[in-house]
Amino acid sequence: MLKRTVTCGELRAKDKDREVVLSGWVASWRDHGGVIFIDLRDISGLTQIVFGREKSGLDKGKEEELIKQAQKLRNEFVIAVKGVVSARPEGTENKKIDTGDIEVIVTEMELLNKCRELPFDFKKMDEVGEETRLKYRYLEMRVGKLKDNLVFKHKLFQVTRNYFSGKGFYEIETPFLTRATPEGARDYLVPSRVNPGKFYALPQSPQLFKQMLMVGGFMRYFQIVKCFRDEDLRQDRQPEFTQLDLEMSFIDEADIKAVLEEYVCSVFDKLMGVKVSRPFPSLSYDQAMLRYGTDKPDLRIPAEITDISDLALSCGFKVFSDAAGKGVVRGLKISDADRISLSVINEVTKEVQQLGAKGLAWIRHKEEGLTSQITKFFKPEELEELSRRFKTIKGDLLFFVADSADTVSKCLSFLRTRFYEPRKDKYALLWVEDYPLFEKDAETGRWSPMHHPFTSPAPGDIEALRSGKDEDIARVKSRAYDMVLNGSEIGGGSIRNHSLEVQDLVFRILGIDEKESREKFGFLLKALSYGAPPHGGFAFGMDRLVAQLLNLESIREVIPFPKTQKAYSPITDAPSAVDRKQLDELFIKVDVPEDLT
Ligand code: AMO
Ligand code: AMP
Repeated sequence: MLKRTVTCGELRAKDKDREVVLSGWVASWRDHGGVIFIDLRDISGLTQIVFGREKSGLDKGKEEELIKQAQKLRNEFVIAVKGVVSARPEGTENKKIDTGDIEVIVTEMELLNKCRELPFDFKKMDEVGEETRLKYRYLEMRVGKLKDNLVFKHKLFQVTRNYFSGKGFYEIETPFLTRATPEGARDYLVPSRVNPGKFYALPQSPQLFKQMLMVGGFMRYFQIVKCFRDEDLRQDRQPEFTQLDLEMSFIDEADIKAVLEEYVCSVFDKLMGVKVSRPFPSLSYDQAMLRYGTDKPDLRIPAEITDISDLALSCGFKVFSDAAGKGVVRGLKISDADRISLSVINEVTKEVQQLGAKGLAWIRHKEEGLTSQITKFFKPEELEELSRRFKTIKGDLLFFVADSADTVSKCLSFLRTRFYEPRKDKYALLWVEDYPLFEKDAETGRWSPMHHPFTSPAPGDIEALRSGKDEDIARVKSRAYDMVLNGSEIGGGSIRNHSLEVQDLVFRILGIDEKESREKFGFLLKALSYGAPPHGGFAFGMDRLVAQLLNLESIREVIPFPKTQKAYSPITDAPSAVDRKQLDELFIKVDVPEDLT
């Protein structure tokens, strides 16, 4: 077999007259009356190779045989060629590719493999449906964007390992066959053959193990690791995804944030050529919800929400005054809004109604001042006050939603992104902090952790935690922090409970009694009781981080073999039924209702 001596991306004009061996895939094939041009591709690029140029120096018989061989080639056949690097004839250089000044005059060729008819045209990748792309992922990754995305992710992993090793972090593995970790999703279970009737859970994160590593004295740990969560999938959620997980001992929030900011800045610097300034801005959870209606605001969008509940309470518009008594009335100003017609407003009204709003009130600032169907319900001084609070000028459009704070936030945050297209060349990083420790589950009325149950309450709130009263518990803040990039939560973490007493208090409020907590997390609690150092950590969603850095819609674009929205893998056809024999070994009976099969 001809052995490759160079890649398809590396030859330049200075390599003229070198004899080389290239191997790769036939990317395109042109027969110019007996002279055959092929673009040969490998992961590093394309090289034009030429058959039938007299310069080859071959005798006629050999040359003809070579051309015959080349004429049989088709796209994506795999070949190796020996040849001599030659400058392309003047005027035929291709400035679009790095090797565009040269071509290789072939003297010998070996066909390494054929390729059957392709399921899609590589040149029209944009038109191929996603399920087909996922089914033929190995073809998609030979060319174009997916390849670049995966190469970028590789570089990110390199930068990450270098950075954290350089800062004294140890890369340590943690088990996949383990017990459930409470990150708020369902677990993927794995039956144990040697322990009939028992199951492992795949980790939703290495949370409990990294805390035990701190008890074990490692002080600084990191790992690039798969996590598994059975949850409703979206553009930014996959059943298995990759975290950069880390944990530190004898630190507080400021230490962790400093390390993480420096890491993110070095990623931006090394991979994007972008200088990011530190410290990153920070918002409290309450401020984020009030001003942007979400705890992951895209700060590239300038529009902010304004609360007018006080004004609404006493105004003559019943929709507002009624709602302000029970909930809140808030508004969002859209600038330069003459482009937004009444029919668009009607369309948007339906969209926010889908999100739970009862309606969408609006007022325009026109030549004559604030006008709309509802301005008649307001006194002139109330309209003046509205204009003042929103700082309106001619061309502005105000949208209002009156409802519970949750619904209002959801709708106005939706309107922020509905009417503003963020600039793709900008990056907005921020911290969101001071989360409530608990949130109440609307259905069960039970408290659940806003992050995970090992997050520490703010030191000043421990007394409120002890009181056990609902109104006290509701105002307990946590020592959790999320990092947001362009409106995506790229990571989250917290300072943990290293004191058993506080951890127990948290469990009690979550309705986990002593017996249950010992049963589920006994191993961690036991570890904490053997001299656990104060510790805390963080985890980045690496798929989300890459998707944001590369401005991609979905994290599927940065995962080599992702699953569909139904957690299905088109390439392997997983999940699949298994043999009766395998199930018998595990003592498992499958009993799926007929309408679900
Ligand atoms: P958390 O649950 O916030 O924290 O996860 C950390 C980050 O992981 C990413 N992420 C996901 N990415 C893709 N698909 C998913 N299904 C998915 N779920 C989460 C997000 C998220 O911010 N153990 C804690 C971290 C800690 O406290 O140290 C944890 O896992 O970007
Ligand atoms: P109505 O009095 O229901 O005809 O509503 C008058 C205007 O107020 C319409 O534009 C509605 O879309 C809007 N509206 C109704 N309910 C609400 C609400 N809860 N919040 C904001 N606007 C509303």
